[in-house]
Amino acid sequence: MSRLPPTPTGLPLVGHTLSFAADPFGFVGDLLTDHGVDDVVGLDVLGLDDLYVLAHPTYVERALVSERDVIAKGGEFAAAFGTAVTAVEGDEWRRQRATLDPFFRWGRVDEYADVMSRQVERRLQEWPDSGTLSLESEMKGVTLDIIFATILGRELELDSDERVRGAADGLNGRFSPASWVLPRWVPTPSRRRFDRADRLLRDEVSTLVETADEQSLTAKLVDTLGSDYPQTREEMEDQLVGMIFAGHETTALALTFSLYLLATHPAVCERARSEVDSVVGSGRVTADDIDHVPTVERVLKESLRLYPPVHTLPRETVRPFSVGERTIPAGTDVHLSVIHIHRDERWYDDPLVFRPDRWDGEKDRSTYAYIPFGAGPRSCLGRAFALTEAKIVLASVLREFELDWDGDEPLEITPEMTTQPKGETPLVVRRR
Ligand code: HEM
Repeated sequence: MSRLPPTPTGLPLVGHTLSFAADPFGFVGDLLTDHGVDDVVGLDVLGLDDLYVLAHPTYVERALVSERDVIAKGGEFAAAFGTAVTAVEGDEWRRQRATLDPFFRWGRVDEYADVMSRQVERRLQEWPDSGTLSLESEMKGVTLDIIFATILGRELELDSDERVRGAADGLNGRFSPASWVLPRWVPTPSRRRFDRADRLLRDEVSTLVETADEQSLTAKLVDTLGSDYPQTREEMEDQLVGMIFAGHETTALALTFSLYLLATHPAVCERARSEVDSVVGSGRVTADDIDHVPTVERVLKESLRLYPPVHTLPRETVRPFSVGERTIPAGTDVHLSVIHIHRDERWYDDPLVFRPDRWDGEKDRSTYAYIPFGAGPRSCLGRAFALTEAKIVLASVLREFELDWDGDEPLEITPEMTTQPKGETPLVVRRR
């Protein structure tokens, strides 16, 4: 029988749990460097089954493209999102992607640009002429405004709708570190919060059936209700709540990290701003404008490398998966580590340095060394939507405000399901 990849011995009973909890990214990085073989290392965390971290572009290509029949998405997604596209497999997944894909193509997304721009402008009008904001909560606010106004088909109120806003926040909680290390049936506080959030958002979504804007995904799903997909209202609700989860916080984080980086790199910020000033006319930022702001584009690309909102792609082996001379058995959890690949000096010079110009003329590296949106057929459905939205928000903020940072630097991060800033995110703004 071939050997397993190495899992270094941790403390008696608790294994790596305490060191992992204290500094998850740093600890796993050290394990890979000090004990990994062929860029794979085992993690021994209390309550988790055997788990291997894989941190090489070749494994990404194999797991997500050429050997994707060997690796499945696993049960946690299905436990959380039932029949949504993020959670299902096989023919069911193909059927859903076929229904949803046209909605998320570049040309279709451009049609949303005006609504996106209007939502940002509405929020920026509420910002003080001079003051300090919680960047993360403002970005969560604006991305929720946008996903509701476009995909869900209802404009949220800025100063009410607090229940919906609080519930959207609760979705990510299911995957908090405490939830990672306890069996699925344990009702942790964050899982209970998730269940409450899920119920509330389902209620909200079900009220939209009658009233959603006709351009929205909600309206499209209502139209095809009872046909090939969705067959039931429950399936439709699963999908729409899943979209809020997949699309709102990820984009808010991408924006939080990008604006933090702009605020702490004044020369880059000035360059991006002068492009915006010369491209954007007197009205709102348009779909055409954001094709002509290369520095903004590179800032976003580099921010998604250094701070990928989705730091890990969790999977499960369906059949044995070979890694070098060793084999991971069927039925084992594997984590493809996006963040460790993105911060590996074999693929990026000075990987911890924010350097948007590294994207000016591509270096010869594997496509699978840059995977903020995953890879292969199951890569992010909302990529075009997210990039369009993020560039509109960044350009709109740069046009209206001078930025400064009043928080820790470098900004520390910690993993939940997504990459979270540790502590406050105070952005200082001054209207121009
Ligand atoms: C910067 C923002 C975003 C990032 C970094 C991001 C990242 C990702 C990643 C890494 C995956 C693959 C997960 C895996 O393979 O396990 C994914 C899948 C997905 N994303 Fe995004 N995403 C973003 C925005 C969005 C938006 C705005 C939407 C929708 C409005 C969206 C909808 C989805 C869906 C539905 C899937 C599942 C696709 C499938 O399984 O076929 N995402 N996203």
